[in-house]
Amino acid sequence: MTDIRPMRADETEIWAGLRSELWPDCGPDDNEEDIAAYRAGGPVRVVFLAFAGQTAIGFAEVSERSVVNSCGNDPAAFLEGWYVAPGYRGQGIGAALVKAAADWARQQGYAFLGSDAELENLASHRAHLQLGFEETGRIFTFRMDLGK
Ligand SMILES: CC(C)(COP(=O)(O)OP(=O)(O)OC[C@H]1O[C@@H](n2cnc3c(N)ncnc32)[C@H](O)[C@@H]1OP(=O)(O)O)[C@@H](O)C(=O)NCCC(=O)NCCS
Repeated sequence: MTDIRPMRADETEIWAGLRSELWPDCGPDDNEEDIAAYRAGGPVRVVFLAFAGQTAIGFAEVSERSVVNSCGNDPAAFLEGWYVAPGYRGQGIGAALVKAAADWARQQGYAFLGSDAELENLASHRAHLQLGFEETGRIFTFRMDLGK
């Protein structure tokens, strides 16, 4: 039986563990910083956790953005992180997490939920499209070192 619900204040370590599974480069310092920011009010505004019994098996974290790339000029909710542990995929848990995120965004008054994915993450592209997202654009990112 899977349970999807908003994260409680005492569950940030569970969130941190799942984030490090999704983003292997996201270490303890990154998580500590992001958890402190979340407690202070943003950018992440809400986190949904998925549980199978007592085991945390997935999460969705949602922020608010003043503008979303390739989605016009309106503010929106944004799916910053979306993850289901490998052994639990393909059972509708990712869909339930997105539904929770979309319901929350709707309650906040937003007209849409934005998201993104790495260009090579074709499984994520397909999952997004299956769940009602439409592709709005593709970007490359760059960095200029300013010598500081
Ligand atoms: C993307 C992810 C969260 C989806 O979770 P999930 O629990 O497997 O998703 P669901 O079972 O709810 O599937 C949702 C829909 O996406 C489709 N889908 C899921 N994985 C898919 C895949 N690998 N290939 C094609 N379609 C896929 C499903 O068929 C389903 O569509 P349907 O309802 O029409 O059948 C999960 O695969 C994951 O954590 N991947 C690794 C991390 C990642 O890439 N996160 C997204 C970063 S942008």
